[in-house]
Amino acid sequence: MSQTCDVVVLLSGTGSNLQALIDSTRTGDSPVRIAAVISNRADAYGLQRARDAGIATRSLDHKAFEGRETFDAALIELIDAFNPALVVLAGFMRILSAGFVRHYQGRLLNIHPSLLPKYKGLHTHQRALEAGDAEHGCSVHFVTEELDGGPLVVQAVIPVELHDSPQSLAQRVHAQEHLIYPLAVRWFAEGRLTLGEEGALLNGQPLPASGHLIRN
Ligand code: GRF
Repeated sequence: MSQTCDVVVLLSGTGSNLQALIDSTRTGDSPVRIAAVISNRADAYGLQRARDAGIATRSLDHKAFEGRETFDAALIELIDAFNPALVVLAGFMRILSAGFVRHYQGRLLNIHPSLLPKYKGLHTHQRALEAGDAEHGCSVHFVTEELDGGPLVVQAVIPVELHDSPQSLAQRVHAQEHLIYPLAVRWFAEGRLTLGEEGALLNGQPLPASGHLIRN
């Protein structure tokens, strides 16, 4: 692979998805290069993971800004200094302004711990259990102005087991996140994944509404 795809990762927390991405770039033939990891929290463990991997880090405290737009404008400036082809949200606990989302249209991915469109927002594992769902999982999607609402790229489905707790479910879903996020990022880096007028395209073909489905 001669071309590399520069990626900036945004996170607020522990960054296990970042770690999965880092590990996936160590295969030798990966087209992905993580150019920087940026957090709104200076103490996010994900920043330490990045430093350990020799990746540039930045932090930008949202509390130091007057409003969402001002923070997002500063964040855009910070991100664009690395000139990324793709921006990856990996547990970035901020609602993004419309301006931010538009700026990165077609090159902004998110991962969410539910089978979207089910359970947008928080506490997804508990909500799936309370609803008595037989299946649960996680989704990678392009980000649009609708929170957790953009076109789906890939979903991993796992069965809910009789004795599952929100914690046990979260653990198994997390393991799936660590598989599907690197996969989606790789597709993007290879130029195979794009956002068309009607939704996500893989190899130029429209993906189903659920995205590419991986059943376990
Ligand atoms: C994941 O559950 C992801 O789906 C959600 O935020 C969490 C981040 O986890 N968007 P980690 O920091 O990558 O471990």
